[in-house]
Amino acid sequence: MERTFAIIKPDAFAAGNAGKILARIYAEGFKVVGIKKLYMSKVEAEGFYYVHNERPFFGELTDFMSSGPCVVMTLEAEGAILKWRDLMGATNPAEAAEGTMRKEFGTSIGENATHGSDAPETAAFEIPYFFSGLELL
Ligand code: RTP
Ligand code: MG
Repeated sequence: MERTFAIIKPDAFAAGNAGKILARIYAEGFKVVGIKKLYMSKVEAEGFYYVHNERPFFGELTDFMSSGPCVVMTLEAEGAILKWRDLMGATNPAEAAEGTMRKEFGTSIGENATHGSDAPETAAFEIPYFFSGLELL
C-alpha cells in the first residue's frame, strides 16, 4: 500500500465541489487516512511549494493557495501516487482528459482544483507538512 498527499484547492472548495471530489476519491477505491479543512497562510503555501520558488508563477501560485480555505488529505491505495495523479488529470484543465478532476472542476492552469504528490519523495515531505502521526491513525 502506498500513501499520497492531496489537496482540494481553494477554487474547488469555494465553488462547493469538495463533496463531489471526495465522492470520486472513495469511488476509485482510495482509503482516506487523513482529512481536514484549513486556511493556508502565504508563508505556509511558500513552504509547501518551495520547489517552485524560482518559477515565474510562484507568487501567483502561493497567493492563490492562501486565498481561501482548502481541504488537505492523505490517501492510501495500491500505487496511490500515480492513481491520484491520473484521476486529477493534466496540470492545465484545458489539456486534462475527460472525467478527470481538473477537466471537471478546474478553470485555468493556476486554478486547477486539486493537488497531488508527484513522487514518493514528494509524498514523504508533503504528508508530514500537514499531518501529525496521530492524525493518520
Ligand atoms: P500540483 O503540484 O499543484 O499538484 O500541480 P502539478 O504537479 O500538476 O504542476 P506543478 O508543475 O507542480 O505546478 C504546481 C502548480 O503551479 C501552478 N502553475 N501555474 N501559470 C503557470 O504557468 C503555472 N504553472 C503551474 C498550477 O496551479 C500547478 O498546479
Ligand atoms: Mg506538482
